[in-house]
Amino acid sequence: MHKVLVLDFGSQYTQLIARKVRELGVYSEIQPFSTPLARIRKGAFDAIILSGGPQSVYGKGAPSVDRGVFDLGIPILGVCYGLQLMTYLLGGQVVPSARREYGFASLRPQNRRGLLAGIGDRSQVWMSHGDKAERVPPGFAVTARTSNTKIAAMEDPARRFYGVQFHPEVIHTRQGKKILSNFLFRIAGLAPDWSISSFIQRKVREIRAQVGPRRRVICGLSGGVDSLVTALLVQRAVGRRLVCVFVDNGLLRKNQFAELMAKFKDRFDLNVVGVDASRYFLERLRGVVPPERKRKVIGGAFIRVFEREARKIGGSDFLAQGTIYPDVIESAPVKGPSSTIKSHHNVGGLPPGLRFKLIEPLRELFKDEVRAMGVELGIDREFIQQHPFPGPGLAVRIVGEVTPDRVRTLQDADAVLLDEVRRAGIYRRLWQAFAVLLPVRSVGVMGDRRTYQRVVVARLVESVDGMTAQWYPASSRLLARISTRIVNEVEGVNRVVFDVTTKPPATIEWE
Ligand code: XMP
Repeated sequence: MHKVLVLDFGSQYTQLIARKVRELGVYSEIQPFSTPLARIRKGAFDAIILSGGPQSVYGKGAPSVDRGVFDLGIPILGVCYGLQLMTYLLGGQVVPSARREYGFASLRPQNRRGLLAGIGDRSQVWMSHGDKAERVPPGFAVTARTSNTKIAAMEDPARRFYGVQFHPEVIHTRQGKKILSNFLFRIAGLAPDWSISSFIQRKVREIRAQVGPRRRVICGLSGGVDSLVTALLVQRAVGRRLVCVFVDNGLLRKNQFAELMAKFKDRFDLNVVGVDASRYFLERLRGVVPPERKRKVIGGAFIRVFEREARKIGGSDFLAQGTIYPDVIESAPVKGPSSTIKSHHNVGGLPPGLRFKLIEPLRELFKDEVRAMGVELGIDREFIQQHPFPGPGLAVRIVGEVTPDRVRTLQDADAVLLDEVRRAGIYRRLWQAFAVLLPVRSVGVMGDRRTYQRVVVARLVESVDGMTAQWYPASSRLLARISTRIVNEVEGVNRVVFDVTTKPPATIEWE
């Protein structure tokens, strides 16, 4: 199998490069820029892409690569900072630019024999850089410019080194995929031999090697797609040595625990232990109001329950988790646009003295890739297409204190809302649809009586990957049905409001 190495210099788009390469059918993996040369050589990569990054090559502690990568005889494509670094390391010149170039530019290819084969004149590209290359290194020729950038693309076909100042991986670069495919297929001569099923096979092999012939793995099922896909992968690798634990933390949707337990056992033949820990969780949440504290409390409680179960089961060295890429970057302690926004329970909330070794086979994947993998592993479409559900469950949808009574109210409201969304035939169009309970009461009138009751928010959003989202312009008919039914059917609620905020600036969940 051909492999592409994406060396990460810290760009928010690095993962997109890897993903586009995979969409083109070539396996890719991301490694930090500091990866030792020996590892790169040993990994036997067939092509290397140097990602973008926020720094200047002249900056203090600017990320760089071992110069030896340029002696491996492997084709290299530098993107943005990657181009600048290549220029700098190979003897060209990079200069700080008077102003930062950010946004659309129109590409003027001057040579279409290599990387830019088939790229139109004035094709739209996306730029985001401060410094720029002023003089190409010996052996290179400039192959494209834009009105602001003299060296928008450069290449040294003899050594198979290429660089682009713009970002071919983002959707705003119209022919970006074509450029990447030129690099992979025309230049590096790779074959599109990667697929979800080969990824599964590789992960299964890796997990098997990591766990060895006798050890056990414990996996927490959350009720979502990510943890089930993780469990099924691990099950393929180690069979009955995988013990799943499905914890009822008291924060699941209405009837979710019982329905899912049945499914895990009967349909997937998982070795699963159901634990009713709802009292324990709700106890620990008593009086806790700040969202980050809730997440930490829940994350900690999860681990404690797991550890207890693991001991009961007779020990386990490994904990498998369904962490996916958006969880990783939104929790990553890096500066910049992807700085800590929320600690997702499965990434940020783990106590430091964690006694398990982690298995996180989905860490590099986006949600849609995980779903494709789920289909491949035999999960039914209805389950796959279910909306994401946050690890901390309804706790992050109950603004203010989480009490058993408020959980019940929200479960009931949420069930009504989802029922209406399904009936309206829009469930699958939406990324998520859910109810939120507010810590305010409002005055109402029911029959002839004044009421002073709870307020529920309806949140319906569309999104591709959860990183950004738009509120869904639900029809007034649907809104009316949701509102009427919640107020009529859910005890203690007398008002429903509709959330009309995009992400950003809001997040999807309220906490
Ligand atoms: P936000 O609220 O950050 O959510 O816009 C983005 C997506 O992530 C889900 N989410 C979580 N998933 N653990 C999870 O597994 C969490 O702690 C968590 N918090 C938010 C959220 O439902 C949305 O789809």
